[in-house]
Amino acid sequence: MNKFPTRLHLALQQMYDRISECEDGLLKPVAIDRGLTLLQKLGYPPALLEALPPESFDQAFPLANPFAKIVELEPGTMLDLGCGSVLDVLGCALMLPQLKEIVAIDSSSGLLEIGRRRLQNFPEQSARITLLKADLNHIKQSGLQPADLILMNGSFNLVYNKTDFFKQLTQLLRNDGSILIYDFLLSESLPPGFADEVDNWLWNIGGALSETELRVAVKNAGLEISRLNELERIDPVARCEIVIRKKA
Ligand SMILES: C[S@@+](CC[C@H](N)C(=O)[O-])C[C@H]1O[C@@H](n2cnc3c(N)ncnc32)[C@H](O)[C@@H]1O
Repeated sequence: MNKFPTRLHLALQQMYDRISECEDGLLKPVAIDRGLTLLQKLGYPPALLEALPPESFDQAFPLANPFAKIVELEPGTMLDLGCGSVLDVLGCALMLPQLKEIVAIDSSSGLLEIGRRRLQNFPEQSARITLLKADLNHIKQSGLQPADLILMNGSFNLVYNKTDFFKQLTQLLRNDGSILIYDFLLSESLPPGFADEVDNWLWNIGGALSETELRVAVKNAGLEISRLNELERIDPVARCEIVIRKKA
């Protein structure tokens, strides 16, 4: 039996639970953009950042600012898979009054608890939001209703078997709905054996696919890529916006 998926899931859960307990975030000593600087660089709306307590920022790990694309897609219902401490969920609830229902899922109890506490300050928006703890690798067992939009901002590359995952998502997506993914695609091959190390998956690189691999996984699930937009090249990966729909 392949024990890698279980080891990966436990390592991710432990890492994100540790992040939720660590006031300044785990990456404080490392000179990469994080916290408020990262959110500003990604273009998160100043009005949203002003509405949130500053301590929120160190527990947010988005790959991109998804709001312009979500506004364009006009969803009435949304699933945020890998919602973390609910930054995007709250942003969508504040900015999109037509969004009637948001179900947000994560496997880190710590981040979900932070999210729950944060939502208490937004009772009007909270009424439209449900937070659930679940493992994305077994998402179809969660009894969710199909949604207009499935958002994955930085969580897709952490899923072990992408083809199997897309097949599960087809059951959670309305026929005219969209899957919106922000994550890295490979721009170059990774060194041999790189993806065999759990640690190399933790920051979204070890589980990254090439564009060709992504297209195969999508097609095998009866889906198609309707838009693939490279946002930033940081070889050996490219930060991308990917919109996937059911085949017409
Ligand atoms: C890079 S963070 C992005 C979080 C959030 N979307 C944001 O923008 O702040 C990845 C998130 O995926 C969650 N995650 C990782 N593996 C998961 C799994 N198998 N099931 C559910 N959530 C998972 C982590 O707990 C973490 O919150």
